[in-house]
Amino acid sequence: MEKIVSNLLLLSRADAGELTLQKERCDFVALVRECMTLQGHQAGAKNIAMKLQSTQNYIDCEIDTNRMRQVISNLLDNAIKYTPSGGKITIEVKREQQRILLSVKDTGIGISEKDLPFVFDRFYRVDKSRSREQHSSGLGLAISKWIVATHGGHIDIMSKEGQGTTVRVVLPLENTNPDEIGAI
Ligand SMILES: Nc1ncnc2c1ncn2[C@@H]1O[C@H](COP(=O)(O)OP(=O)(O)O)[C@@H](O)[C@H]1O
Ligand SMILES: [Mg+2]
Repeated sequence: MEKIVSNLLLLSRADAGELTLQKERCDFVALVRECMTLQGHQAGAKNIAMKLQSTQNYIDCEIDTNRMRQVISNLLDNAIKYTPSGGKITIEVKREQQRILLSVKDTGIGISEKDLPFVFDRFYRVDKSRSREQHSSGLGLAISKWIVATHGGHIDIMSKEGQGTTVRVVLPLENTNPDEIGAI
């Protein structure tokens, strides 16, 4: 309940234009590793193997670390929650030209074609009864989308029911000419 209230407050502050990013220099790969460590026990308890694939050891960027930690944690939390025991989660991080690409891929239950367009909507949960068991509110992806968009980035989701889900985040790196970023 406490988490739902704080998520709702965050969204209403965002709606009111009161939420500004507190950007700081950080290493994006280290941030991903930190989130993986924090949620490692959650994955371990379900015997889910979480693996990081990164082409770089270090990606220097300027982002709101706390908010971005929230995005990464949300994506890992979903991947773990909606993947049955024995499954696999692969996290990929790379720097490509002037952007960071992050993807979180799981071998979980997936999302049907009919539900997929709505998962970024506030309070949307695919299976209400199952979600209640999982302590879900349907706010995680809505918040993640807002945070990524406010960083000038983009988030999308691909899924096949019964096979798994991949969420991709594209973030432009700071100090770049927007004309060079191209379509993201
Ligand atoms: N990796 C995933 N695998 C399967 N379903 C997912 C995944 N991520 C999100 N979903 C679906 O999208 C809905 C919305 O996600 P989210 O906003 O994070 O809410 P919550 O995690 O609180 O349920 C979830 O309730 C779930 O049905
Ligand atoms: Mg969630």
